[in-house]
Amino acid sequence: MLTGKNILLIISGGIAAYKVLEVIRRLRDQGASIRAILTQGGAEFVTPLSVAALTENKVYQDIFSLTDEAEMGHIRLSREADLVLVAPASADILAKMAAGMANDLATTALLATNKPVLVAPTMNVEMWNNPATRANIATLESRGILRIGPAGGDLACGETGTGRLAEPAEIIAAVQDFFARQDGPKPLVGKKAVVTSGPTHEPIDPVRYIANRSSGKQGHAIAAELARAGADVTLVSGPVNLPDPVGVNVVRVETARDMLASVQAHMPADIAIFAAAVADWRIKDQAGQKIKKAGDGALPVLQFAENPDILATISQSGPLRPALVVGFAAETENVVDHARAKRARKGCDWILANNVAPDSGTFGGEDNEIHLIAGNDVQSDELWPKQSKIAVARTLVSRIARHFDT
Ligand code: PMT
Repeated sequence: MLTGKNILLIISGGIAAYKVLEVIRRLRDQGASIRAILTQGGAEFVTPLSVAALTENKVYQDIFSLTDEAEMGHIRLSREADLVLVAPASADILAKMAAGMANDLATTALLATNKPVLVAPTMNVEMWNNPATRANIATLESRGILRIGPAGGDLACGETGTGRLAEPAEIIAAVQDFFARQDGPKPLVGKKAVVTSGPTHEPIDPVRYIANRSSGKQGHAIAAELARAGADVTLVSGPVNLPDPVGVNVVRVETARDMLASVQAHMPADIAIFAAAVADWRIKDQAGQKIKKAGDGALPVLQFAENPDILATISQSGPLRPALVVGFAAETENVVDHARAKRARKGCDWILANNVAPDSGTFGGEDNEIHLIAGNDVQSDELWPKQSKIAVARTLVSRIARHFDT
């Protein structure tokens, strides 16, 4: 199943590093060829000799090795792989990856690679739960880094909790899943898609604006997944702190009116998905200069004007209307009823209802729980389990593929 696949395996320090020897053996049984980089910490737990014997390849350890650089430079090492697998991935190497550090061969290869990276973390439960590690993992995942584990259970340090390295069979399954998805069918080839994402910023004066808490994670994940399924994707994004999804044409805008203009400029399309949290209102008369505090304590009065509704405009755009228009409904109460009414009012085909009440963590968070409403027929409703926004994107895209297939 993995015949012809080249994997660069980076082994960092961790008591579970011994399990990676089994991973190497099983990957090789399936036809993969493996080059390995062993970090200084990794070499405390497994020997270069055992890794070399199992990979039947030289093991790379030193960035400053003249002979290694001459025969296989670190750039080539990272580029000739189809997948970079970091197992075990210690808290330290994950932090260095998130920060973009390159102070040894492993981190330099990781920074230099243009290939997908799969990490298998392992560490003490408190290290895993530490806000620094949480932030590093979120950063890496927002950049498209794939992850397997860690699992929960008894840890080598004697404590119990999340932090165990995924089992070799799970790591192998994640590698197989990666290649199956990469090499598998591309059901949306030939389809053009436009996705909106993030908040809009509506200026009050040259330095102030109205915004909301949308991070763009949901919209960006959908754009990435559509591209992976072979669609030609344009992502029209409000201001966000996310990297551009791979293989997606990204247009950055600020205001709702800019977003509408950009979406219209990219019509016609087959699929349009509106995940952006567009401001419903803008300031009627934006001040040309910074509004000054009045000396007498009088407060400024802001007058609002309604923004165009992008979803409704595109849903009702006649011959230019995409074959499938999907909106989101961000609701804090009566989620399904409000979403159903919103779908009918705006005229889109499907609406993905999500609860954005303050305790839901949906705005800006990692997970989302979606109720898909696909028309007037309540029988066709689907409640998806709470899952990561990336998993929501996958579920949506496979649903879209099925829609076009029937
Ligand atoms: O960005 P994240 O942090 O990952 O969070 C994701 C999300 C919560 C923002 C996303 O899942 C979501 O719900 N997006 C829609 C947010 C929203 O503005 O919902 P709404 O119910 O107000 O609008 C309904 C639909 O109309 C949406 O598809 C919206 O994009 C669209 N709309 C709204 C107003 C407007 N002027 N133009 C629009 O196109």
